[in-house]
Amino acid sequence: MSYLLAIDQGTSSSRSMVFDENGVIFAAAQREFRQIFPQPGWIEHDPLEIWDSQIATCREVMAKAGLAASALAALGMTNQRETTVVWDRATGEPVYNAIVWQDRRTEPLCSALREQGLAPAIASKTGLVLDPYFSGTKLRWILDNVAGVRARAERAELAFGTIDSWLAWKLTGGRLHVTDVSNASRTMLWNIHQGCWDAQLLDWLQIPASLLPQVHPSSHVYGETDAEWLGGPVIIGGIAGDQQAALFGQTCFAPGMAKNTYGTGCFLLLNTGAQAVQSQNGLISTAACQVGATPQYALEGSVFIGGAVVQWLRDGLGAIGHAGEAEGLAASVPDSGGVVFVPSFTGLGAPYWVPSAKGAILGLSRGSTVGHIARAALEAIAFQSAALLGAMTRDAAAPIIELRVDGGACANNLLLQFQADLLGIPVVRPHVIETTALGAAYLAGLAVGHYRDQSELASQWRAERVFTPSISRDQADGLMHQWEQAVRKFASS
Ligand code: G3P
Repeated sequence: MSYLLAIDQGTSSSRSMVFDENGVIFAAAQREFRQIFPQPGWIEHDPLEIWDSQIATCREVMAKAGLAASALAALGMTNQRETTVVWDRATGEPVYNAIVWQDRRTEPLCSALREQGLAPAIASKTGLVLDPYFSGTKLRWILDNVAGVRARAERAELAFGTIDSWLAWKLTGGRLHVTDVSNASRTMLWNIHQGCWDAQLLDWLQIPASLLPQVHPSSHVYGETDAEWLGGPVIIGGIAGDQQAALFGQTCFAPGMAKNTYGTGCFLLLNTGAQAVQSQNGLISTAACQVGATPQYALEGSVFIGGAVVQWLRDGLGAIGHAGEAEGLAASVPDSGGVVFVPSFTGLGAPYWVPSAKGAILGLSRGSTVGHIARAALEAIAFQSAALLGAMTRDAAAPIIELRVDGGACANNLLLQFQADLLGIPVVRPHVIETTALGAAYLAGLAVGHYRDQSELASQWRAERVFTPSISRDQADGLMHQWEQAVRKFASS
């Protein structure tokens, strides 16, 4: 039997997993790394810590699995998207920390671009909303604010990349400066319709083209890793942004199929096939994983604070000792007792798009306990996702009939039941909830002929539990109304 290695570089941790050819996890390793908060609203990672933690998990997982590099058919890479790194092509040294997707420092630049009236043209080229979330304005910030960087970029001495590009560069000793379409589509520099870096976008954002990586389909033989990292060369056969990888790992291959990933944020993606749908309801249009020559698209709703609200219960409020305790605490009360938690710590994403929003806890009374706050925090994850599905349903050609779910927080039954109650459709949890990593492994496996085709992958997907709606639509509408009022009152002003 041969195996596939998935490298999953996320916002909160670096992970590696080995999958067998049936798509079953054979071994896993995980390491956290520092979150750096230099100022309110700024979030950075050290690219070298990302690399060190990632390669350490690769080696650890290979040791745990008892495998040599020669037992791997290929590796697939998936990553936190939009997070921006610039490094020196000669030395490999980053010129600045990675600016993380959640970072809000470029809002003044976005606002200036909005005032120039560029938002509609940017949306029609990239499918994106003009927001600090995406890489383009982060890259511009580095060029404008780190001493000497613009001049070095103009001399073509520097490389830009999202985390996948950075890791591919490191794994190949600088031989590869690459990315895939799904990551490129998050930069705000990539024209999703023409499938190219867009000269006009580069001009508006004043970005030298020499910084940019080469773009390939997500399933593609990119090259081989240097032998020193994994004890022998391994083919890099797949690269994809983590949310598109999760859509692929959930085998949502047909238009109309949707998934929601409950990670640091929550990301709901709907496969729209070969058609890039322009949302009328605050969603974005993005490149989905590409296998072969035909581009594929998805509609996406991005919630910036999902599982991160549980981290805040632990680290900010001190209400729990570890994340797994959140469900028990929330279940200690029958409902939220009128408490509504709007966790917009880093602005509000889709479908509201309020970059300056702050979080709020409303409806507190003398009887409110930390249990009510924990319950309201979990419910907030589901409310935000339900708002996305509502927007998506209005944009989509046909009704969405079920939602496949994955990511760490989807182990939480209370959350998924509440999610099904709000949505009014079945919420389906698969056997493998690590579908982000699985998607990356599948992309790599297809590139090297480890799998025949996507129908073989679809036959591996199995439901573990289905959560069906248990409250009336009137009750669900009432709850959603209460949530929307809280958002309008406290976050959108
Ligand atoms: O767009 C940001 C997203 O890719 C981050 O995902 O799983 O690290 O929260 P995650």
